[in-house]
Amino acid sequence: MRRYDLASGRESAPSEPLSEEAPVALRDHPGARVFEACRACHSLRPGEHRAGPTLAGVVGRRVAGAPGYVYSEALRRLDFEWSGETLARLFEIGPAAMTPGSKMPEQRVPDPAERAALIDYIATVGR
Ligand code: HEC
Repeated sequence: MRRYDLASGRESAPSEPLSEEAPVALRDHPGARVFEACRACHSLRPGEHRAGPTLAGVVGRRVAGAPGYVYSEALRRLDFEWSGETLARLFEIGPAAMTPGSKMPEQRVPDPAERAALIDYIATVGR
C-alpha cells in the first residue's frame, strides 16, 4: 500500500506491518495502537526522519532538538523539554495551542488513558 504524507503530499516511507519497529514483546502494548496515528510521519528509530522528526529519545530532549531534522521556525523558537507531562499536554490541547505555528497537523488524543499508553510506548520503544 502506498502512503502519502498529509502535510507535503509526497509519498512517505513504505508502510510496515503493525508496529514493526517495536520489539515483539511490545507489539501488544496498548500504546502501539495509538501510535498507529503517528507512524506515517514519525519513526521510533534513531536518526530516521519522515515528514516529522524521529521520536527516538524524545523524552528528555529539548523541543525541536532531534539532530538532522529541519524544524519550523515556530518550533525552534520554543524553549522547553519533552517529558511525560509536556507530551501529554501536546495531545490534550493539540499542537495549535501547545506549539502554535508548528508544521504538525492539528490532532488530539482525547482519552487520558490512551495518552498515557501512547507516551509510555514512545518512551519504551524509542528509548
Ligand atoms: C502528518 C504528519 C504527522 C503526524 C500524523 C504526526 N506528526 Fe508529530 N510532527 C510532524 C511534524 C512535521 C513535526 C515537526 C513540526 C515543526 O517543525 O514545526 C512534528 C513534531 C512532533 C513533535 C515535536 C518533536 C520535537 O523534536 O520537538 C512531537 C513530540 C510529535 N510530533 C509527536 C507526534 C505524535 C505522538 C503523533 C501521533 C499521535 C504525531 N506526532 C503525529 C508531523 C506529524
